[in-house]
Formats: sequence, structure tokens, C-alpha cells
Amino acid sequence: SLPKKVKIVEVGPRDGLQNEKEALSAAVKIELVNRLARAGFANVEAASFVSPKWVPQMATSSEVMAGIERIPGTIYSALTPNMQGFDAALAAHADEVVIFGSASEAFSQKNINCSIAESIARFEPVARAAKAAGLRLRGSISTAFGCPYQGEVSLDAVADVVRRMRDLGCDEIDIADTIGVATARKTQAVMLRAAQEFPLPQLSGHFHDTYGQALANIYAAMEVGVAIFHSSVSGLGGCPYAKGATGNVATEDVLYLMNGLGIETGVDLDQVVDAGQFISQQLGRKGASRAGNAIAAK
Ligand code: HMG
Ligand code: MG
Repeated sequence: SLPKKVKIVEVGPRDGLQNEKEALSAAVKIELVNRLARAGFANVEAASFVSPKWVPQMATSSEVMAGIERIPGTIYSALTPNMQGFDAALAAHADEVVIFGSASEAFSQKNINCSIAESIARFEPVARAAKAAGLRLRGSISTAFGCPYQGEVSLDAVADVVRRMRDLGCDEIDIADTIGVATARKTQAVMLRAAQEFPLPQLSGHFHDTYGQALANIYAAMEVGVAIFHSSVSGLGGCPYAKGATGNVATEDVLYLMNGLGIETGVDLDQVVDAGQFISQQLGRKGASRAGNAIAAK
């Protein structure tokens, strides 16, 4: 049976905008985060404290975090690959920090310039500092369904990183399909394997929609009990270190699905459609959400 309620983590301002060629101003990003938070998301991924040489689009993260309005109870998250990132996130008053690793050695090297084992060692002080500061800690595992550099990624490789992130004290762990290659049964197999290492209610599905499978994968994941999903307004996104990866599944499409199934999200679809129109206008192109475009055209 499907969950009665799911949590949608809106990752557009981070996963979406990190991949844009044209840098948007901090003011536009602030407006986007505010619009999304007002739409009702319990969690908005708003910033990424990574090296500006690696991801120049996220260089305005401190400014964005300083400029947004804070809705009480809303969790504003930030990516923190190391202590330098953590210190910046703490100074910016992030509510949750995200350590991000990979189930593939090859992708770990390309994305964060170190091996999986080295990344865990780097995350240790971040995890400790997050706990000491009373922040939520989330772990993200890239290429859990396939890697653009090494191809197959085994269930055991995913489970191994889940276990290490659990041992670091993560409150939530994201199982990410960086390049959108998962299909429904594979999704269930990976989620069930991950759930042998970490409580299923705290596992989330982060699906990119490169092969058009994301909604089917979300449905399949719900069938085995997953109830947290990441999505991106207007389908923004991709990963600069995964060539050809397109955006996350569009939030509007996910909300349309959940509304149709009678699954509670706490998020107002029309307000997300408006936020999607806003950011598409700023980017000068049509949004990638099918439901968003259909609703906006009414
Ligand atoms: P490195 O070069 O190995 O690090 O990069 P380093 O410690 O040797 O530092 C080199 C330089 O970077 C130094 O500056 C540091 O100060 C600076 P320099 O002395 O040369 O002027 N630096 C920093 N600056 C700002 N903030 C920091 C920071 N750390 C070092 N936190 C590093 C290692 C991890 C920093 C680098 O590889 C990096 O920034 N990678 C980020 C890659 C990234 O952001 N990828 C996209 C996000 S992950 C994603 O999208 C996947 C996800 O959506 C899930 C999925 O779909 O799969 C989450
Ligand atoms: Mg992603």
C-alpha cells in the first residue's frame, strides 16, 4: 500500500541552479527560495558551500542564505563537502547540512576529488560539528543506480555507503539516481537493500529524469515504503560532473501525481507552478515540467 503522506524536498535552488550556464543574481535566487517556501515545502535545499572554482553558480550561497525570509519550521538545507563548507553553512544559519558522497569510486573522484573512503573521513568532522551545533545532518549518495564513468554500481556498494553514513549519524539518507538510469524494479531493489542498513522512513529518493523514468521510480519506491522524495521546480537541474544528466524530476509533476493519488504533501501545486513560471522567465526558456506547463496554459 502507498503512504498516506510524503515529504517533498525541493532541491531546485541548489541542484537546479548549480547547473545553469548563466549565473543568476542572488536576488533572483532569494525570490525563488521564498516563493517555494511559501508554497509549503517543509524542506528547501537553498545553498551549496562548495568550491566556487568547481561550481561557480553556487558562489552566492552566503548571500542567498542571508537574504531569504525564514518560515518557522521550514528546513533550509545546504551542501557541505568539508569543514570549510560546514563553517560557511553554520555562519549562514543553515538548518540542515548535507554531506554528499557516491556509491561509485569513479564518480567520487570526478565530483569531489577523492575516494569514497577519503570522503567519509572528510565527512566525519562535519558530522560531529553538525551534531554539536544541533543541526540536522543528511547524507546523499550519488550514482546509486548507475555511474556515468564506471557503469554498473552494485547493491552492496550502495549498502556500504549507507552504512557509513548511518554510522556518521545521518538523520536522513538520499539514494540518488544522478544520471536518471533507474527503472522501477531496480529502484525497489536498491531501496530495499538500503533499508537493510538504515530505517526506511528516513530514506529518500532523489531521481533525475534523464530517461523519463523518475515518476515511475517514485511510484515504485512508494510501493516499498519510501515516503521522502526530492524534486526540482520546473525540472531544473543536473550535475556539472555527470555529463548529459538532465534535471531532477519536476516538482509540479510529482505534486500532480500525489494529488491524484490522494497522498498528502502539504505543498500547494498552483504556487509551485507560479514559482516555476517565475524562474523560467528569469532563465529565458520554457520550463521542463509537463504538469507545470499544462496548468500555466489554462
Ligand atoms: P579539492 O580541490 O580537492 O579541495 O576540492 P581542496 O581542499 O584541495 O581545496 C582546493 C581549493 O578549493 C582551495 O582554494 C580551497 O580553499 C577551496 P585555493 O587555495 O585553491 O584558492 N575550497 C573551498 N572553497 C569554498 N568552499 C568549500 C571549499 N573547499 C575547498 N567548501 C571539493 C574538493 C570537495 C572542495 C571540490 O571537489 C568541490 O567543491 N566539489 C563540489 C562538486 C559539486 O558541488 N558537485 C555538485 C553537487 S553534488 C550533486 O549534484 C549530486 C546530488 O544532487 C545527488 C545526485 O543527484 O547524485 C547531491
Ligand atoms: Mg542531483
